[in-house]
Amino acid sequence: MKSSGNHNTSCKVPAHVAVIMDGNGRWAKARGYERTAGHVAGVDAVRYVIEAASGLGVKYLTLYAFSTENWNRPAEEVEALLHLIVVSLERETPDLVRNNVRLNVIGDIDRLTDESRESLRRSLDATSRCTGLQVNLALSYSSRWEITRAARRMAEMALEGKIRPEDIDENLVASQMTTASMPDPDLLIRTGGDSRISNFLLWQIAYSELYFSPKYWPEFTGDDFVAAVEEFTGRERRFGMTSEQVSACAPNNTNTLQQ
Ligand code: IPE
Ligand code: IPE
Ligand code: MG
Repeated sequence: MKSSGNHNTSCKVPAHVAVIMDGNGRWAKARGYERTAGHVAGVDAVRYVIEAASGLGVKYLTLYAFSTENWNRPAEEVEALLHLIVVSLERETPDLVRNNVRLNVIGDIDRLTDESRESLRRSLDATSRCTGLQVNLALSYSSRWEITRAARRMAEMALEGKIRPEDIDENLVASQMTTASMPDPDLLIRTGGDSRISNFLLWQIAYSELYFSPKYWPEFTGDDFVAAVEEFTGRERRFGMTSEQVSACAPNNTNTLQQ
């Protein structure tokens, strides 16, 4: 993996970008291949996007790889996809380390096999000292799973007398999310042509900018990622305020207002 140049020219670069990597099956079908071939082709796109995000100076990249609902797909596809994710991670880990990329997994990984979990653990451990881009792989993840788990944890804390109901505020809720300690995504990209969120980071994307690409995930390139970030930098984020208020804090009228 090589660095894709120094695009990190200003504070307008999003700190956190989330990506719904969609369209592998349709990409394969359009070429007369099995759906699984689309997932295999999608691995290259993951590599290009990690390179591009690193090159731009993005701090967190959250990739939706497998959703809670994806468990309902045909068993052969689920098995092939999870195997591919785990094997690709093992293969890419040395490159991640070389490029100072830290890997993190968010999701209900208790549902994975012991073997997959151990393989994931090895990749996580190998990159744990890296200080560059953090890649959060959303695996067996859904936002409703995450929010339900947070609610259960806060109920337990209340029952144990650690908190009172009135202690539950936005900060406490955020601290129970899998993304605690990270900034919310500034930009959410979805490939594959559909304009929906599919149970991804519902709490965290309250004020994210949304970018929908018609390209299927295996066709998405580092340049496409840079183009999405460039479009993002031209948008005015108002966070409920007026344009005049925002211009007063950010004279360039762009994304200098970070959460
Ligand atoms: C995205 O591609 C990968 C996962 C959801 C795991 P899909 O497999 O959803 O591809 P389409 O949307 O059917 O084309
Ligand atoms: C979203 O894609 C999940 C991932 C990219 C992992 P899906 O293909 O599962 O979403 P829907 O079913 O089209 O909403
Ligand atoms: Mg899909």
